[in-house]
Amino acid sequence: MSLTRKKPLEALLQQASHSNLKRTLTAKSLVALGVGAIIGSGLFIRTAAASAEAAGPAVVLSFVVAAIGCAFAGLCYAEFAAMIPIAGSAYTYAYTTMGEFVAWVIGWALILEYALGAATVSIGWSEYLNNVLGSLFGAKIPFEWCHSPMDVSATGVHGIFNAPALLILLLLTLLLIKGTQESATVNMIIVIIKLSIVVAFIAAGWQFINHANLQPYTVPATTPGHEAFFKHGWGGILGGAGIVFFAFIGFDAVSTAAQETKDPGRDMPKGILGSLALCTILYILFGYVLTSVCNWKEFKVAGKEASVAYAVQHHMPGFGWLATGISVAILAGFSSVILVMLLGQSRVFYSMANDGLLPKLFSDVHPKFRTPYKCNIVLFLFVGVFAGFIPGSLAGDLTSIGTLFAFVLVCLGVILMRRSEPSLQRPFRTPMVPLVPILGMLVCGGMIISLDINTQLTALVWMIIGLLVYFLYGRSHSKWGEPEVLRSGAVEQPGSI
Ligand code: ALA
Repeated sequence: MSLTRKKPLEALLQQASHSNLKRTLTAKSLVALGVGAIIGSGLFIRTAAASAEAAGPAVVLSFVVAAIGCAFAGLCYAEFAAMIPIAGSAYTYAYTTMGEFVAWVIGWALILEYALGAATVSIGWSEYLNNVLGSLFGAKIPFEWCHSPMDVSATGVHGIFNAPALLILLLLTLLLIKGTQESATVNMIIVIIKLSIVVAFIAAGWQFINHANLQPYTVPATTPGHEAFFKHGWGGILGGAGIVFFAFIGFDAVSTAAQETKDPGRDMPKGILGSLALCTILYILFGYVLTSVCNWKEFKVAGKEASVAYAVQHHMPGFGWLATGISVAILAGFSSVILVMLLGQSRVFYSMANDGLLPKLFSDVHPKFRTPYKCNIVLFLFVGVFAGFIPGSLAGDLTSIGTLFAFVLVCLGVILMRRSEPSLQRPFRTPMVPLVPILGMLVCGGMIISLDINTQLTALVWMIIGLLVYFLYGRSHSKWGEPEVLRSGAVEQPGSI
C-alpha cells in the first residue's frame, strides 16, 4: 500500500452530499465564527508585547505583515472550502491532493493548532478570571486550584490542577454536544460583546492620541536590549509580526464547519475572507490607538497581560468603566476562541475517523443532536489534561507552528489540485495561481523559521509521535487502502449511521 494513496475526489464529493451533520450555518454565522476564533489573547495581550519587545509604535505594520501572510493562505483555504465542503479542512484537502501520508501529517499538526490552542487559551481564561474576581470582589481562587503541578508561586505554594480552565472547557464541550446551531448562537452573542468593546476602545482612545508617542516610529538599534536583528527597525516589524501572528489564528477554523454550512460554495469564502478582513481592519486601528495613547516603552515595565486596561486607566481619564468592560470582553473573547477551536478539532477528528485513520468512536454522531458527541467528550479529556496540568507558556508558540505548517500545505495543495483536476467546478478561485500560493508558502514558511528552536524541536517530537501512531494504527485501518473500494468507485459512506 502506498503512502501517497489518495482519497478519490468523487467519494469526497459524495460524502459531502450525504452528510450526517446538520446544515445550519449561513455566511453571517460563519463570519461570526471566524471573528469568534480570531479575536482573543493575541489582540488583547500580544499587541503590547510585540510593541515592547520588537516593533515599537510600528506594531501596526507588524499587523499588516502578518495579515498579508494570512490573506495568501486565506485565499487558498477559500478555494478548497468552497470546492470540497467537508469537515476535515486542510486534512481533507491534503488527502485528495498529496495523499494519505501528508494528510495524516497535517491532521496531526492541526491537533497542535486546535487542541493545544484551546488548552492555551483556557489557561489564559483562568488567569483572567482570577484578575476579574480580584478587582471586582477582592477575592481570588487559591493558587493551588488554578495552577498546574508544574507551577510554583512566589511564596512556594505548588499548583494541584487548574480547575477554572477545566470548568470552561467542560461548559463549552457540553454546548458543542448540544448543537452547532446553539454553539453558533452563543458565539454570536460573545462576538457582539467583544466587537463592541474593541470599537469602544478605538473610539474613546482616539481623542487621547498623542503623536509624540509615535516618534521615532521604529525602535532605534541603539535601544538597550534591542540589538538583535528582529528587535529593532524593519527587522523589529518582522519580529513583531511573528508575535502577533497568534492573533490571526482561527479564520481557517471556519473551513472545518463546511459540512454544516447551508451553501458552502457561496458562503465559505465569505466566512473565511470576511472574518479575516474585518479583524485586520480592527487590529490595525486598535494597534494604532494603543501605541499612540500609551508610549510603547511603558509596556516593557507596566501592564503586561493587562496592558490594555493599564493604558485606559493611566492615559484615558474618565474611562475607568472601559477597563472593566475590557476585562469582561477578554473573558468572553477567550471563551469563543476556545469554543471554535474545540469545534474545529472535533471536525478534523470526525473526518479522520470517517477515513478509518482514527477509531470509529470519533465519527459517531448523536442520534438527536447530530453532533460528534463521543469525539467531543474524548477531546475534553485530552485538552483537559493539557489545560489542567501543564503551564500555559509551553503551549502558545506550538499552536502557531502547527497552524503555519497547515497553511503551507494548503497553499501547495491549491497548485497541485489545479494541475490534477483543472476542470473541476470551483465556486471560488484563488487569484493569480501559482503566485499567491507561492507567496503564502514563503511568508508562512519564513514565520516558521523565525520561531525559536525549542518550539521547533518540540513540534518535531510531536510529529514523530504522530508517525508512530500512523504506522501502528492508521495505515492498516485506512478505508481508502482497500483495492476493491478504490476500484469499484462505489464507495460506501464511511462512518454513516
Ligand atoms: N487568535 C486567537 C487568539 O488571539 C487564537 O486568542
